[in-house]
Amino acid sequence: MKAWKWFEGSRVGRSVFRVGIPRSNLERAQAMVSSFLLHVQPAKVNRRTLRPATTLGLGLISLYLLGILTVTGILLMFYYVPATDRAYDAMKDLQYVVSAGLVIRNMHRWAAHLMVLFVMLHLCRVFYTGAYKRPREFNWLVGIALFLLTLGLSFTGYLLPWDQLAFWAITVGANIAAYAPVVGPELKFLILGGNSVGQEALIRFYTLHVIVLPALMAFMVSVHLWRVRKDGGLARPEEGADRLERIDVEHLPTNKSYGLMELTRSTSLQVGKNPEDEVFSWPHLVFREMLLLLAVIAVVLFLAVFWNAPLEEVANAIHPPNPAKAPWYFLGLQELVSYSAFWGGVVAPAVLVTALVMLPYLDRQAVGAGRWFARERRLANTVFTIFLIIAVVLTVIGSVFRGPNWGWVKPWAQPPAVTEGH
Ligand code: HEM
Repeated sequence: MKAWKWFEGSRVGRSVFRVGIPRSNLERAQAMVSSFLLHVQPAKVNRRTLRPATTLGLGLISLYLLGILTVTGILLMFYYVPATDRAYDAMKDLQYVVSAGLVIRNMHRWAAHLMVLFVMLHLCRVFYTGAYKRPREFNWLVGIALFLLTLGLSFTGYLLPWDQLAFWAITVGANIAAYAPVVGPELKFLILGGNSVGQEALIRFYTLHVIVLPALMAFMVSVHLWRVRKDGGLARPEEGADRLERIDVEHLPTNKSYGLMELTRSTSLQVGKNPEDEVFSWPHLVFREMLLLLAVIAVVLFLAVFWNAPLEEVANAIHPPNPAKAPWYFLGLQELVSYSAFWGGVVAPAVLVTALVMLPYLDRQAVGAGRWFARERRLANTVFTIFLIIAVVLTVIGSVFRGPNWGWVKPWAQPPAVTEGH
């Protein structure tokens, strides 16, 4: 602490941290505004933002998992080689030779699974609190792009270990893409760089996984967080859009001068705010966020230390496991495909994504935003819940109730050993 105080007061310290540790309200506000990392948040936030029940921290957890994935991913890149004759050996080296390689790989793998899960949970939270309504329609769309990017990142990463699990999961996934009408086979060819999974697919997946998709993700996450701020912070029940429509520039308090930005619709959201409901982001919000970050790192580390990421035999194109299963988040889709490739593999996901995209423009009623399971939104919540239950049931069936040749199995009646194909 003494050393920090000395550093803070030194010439170098003052050039880096203009404010230092804030001690007055003015400095608390300045700390938020003058820091690159903190300035994305306002100097003051509504008390509701601090309550865990408001967001359950799901968006933030997704963001932290993305951070963990970036750091561990870069470390993995020091060893990994995207070549079919070297990739699997690199995984083995990471497991047995490289210092902490196993834990880093495990962290990357578990954080990736958790990120898919938490992004889905975050989407559900936003839905159930009606937070996609005006003026947050666009941020909902950005969110959907983030959801698809998350799936894309996870899917492209799946191939890289070049083991049986990787090879056949991607083969199944690419075959689903081939069912798309008209362009299906071309789409599969584009994804794999050939007709089957091989070196071309590996280098494509690698490039997408470490450059293209992360760059898009970084850009879209920045837009997403910027919009949360510009849309007036988190959705609040008292900011019904009908009330917004009626905010009249003529009736703004005159003891304050307003800039152009403040008069735009997004900042007019601030007008309805009651100063008594506001607290300084530093330390209230920032400390909670830091605590959550430590908790997320601790959980991922715990999982990584006690459970190893799977690594099966090296990929073998002539020995398909039976059944060959897609990654868990596509198992519901694979189950649907087993009934009808076209309806299950193409129509169902296309309808789902289109419905999600159109949602904020169809459900335009302002009431019920910012409140969990608002009564006024009973119909929307029921429909969404039914779809959610169907998705979960299909995923559970695909994960544990399907065995060789995609036939029914009772998981409690036989060991879940994967039998080799003929
Ligand atoms: C990489 C994935 C994502 C990250 C890192 C992320 C991050 C965040 C964060 C940090 C917030 C602030 C509040 C909170 O913690 O919940 C937020 C809010 C929001 N997110 Fe996301 N998000 C992601 C994906 C999504 C998805 C998939 C959707 C929906 C399709 C979505 C829609 C929204 C909306 C509408 C808000 C504003 C909510 C409100 O005002 O209450 N986000 N996001």
